[in-house]
Amino acid sequence: MTTSGNREVLLAAARSARENAVAPFSKFRVGAAVRTKSGRIYSGCNVENASYGLTICAERVAIFKALSEGERGFDAIAVVTDAEKLTPPCGACRQILWEFCGDSEVILGNLKGKVEQHRMAALFPRPFDSSNL
Ligand code: THU
Repeated sequence: MTTSGNREVLLAAARSARENAVAPFSKFRVGAAVRTKSGRIYSGCNVENASYGLTICAERVAIFKALSEGERGFDAIAVVTDAEKLTPPCGACRQILWEFCGDSEVILGNLKGKVEQHRMAALFPRPFDSSNL
C-alpha cells in the first residue's frame, strides 16, 4: 500500500461499503475496507441495533468477513465517514486490528477527499497481545 492508486482503491471500497451502513440511531455512517497481503479487499459497514451496545463497527465487520472467508494477513485498512475530523478506529477495533493486521497502514478519509495515513503501532502503542500470554 505505498502508491496513491492502491490507497484510492481501498478508500473507494470503504466509501462504497459506507452506503450500506445500518446506523438509524447514531446516523453516523462508517465504511471500512481491509486489504489482504495477497491483494484482495474485504469491506464492511457499521451495524447498529436497538440495544445499542451490540453495535459493531465497520472495521470489525470488514476484518471478520475476511477472516471468516479464510483470509489471514493484512497490510492496510481504510475507514471512511462524512466527518470533517477524520474518524480513527475506536479502542475495541484497535485491539482487533492490532491482533489480526499487526502494524498495518490505517488510511482515514472523508467524502470531501481529505485523507490521512497512520500506522497501527502509532495508534496502538504498548498493546496487549499473544506475546503477553
Ligand atoms: N463506528 C465505526 O463503525 N467505526 C469507528 O471507527 C467509529 C465508530 C460506528 C459505531 C456506531 O455505529 C457509530 O459509528 C457511532 O459511534
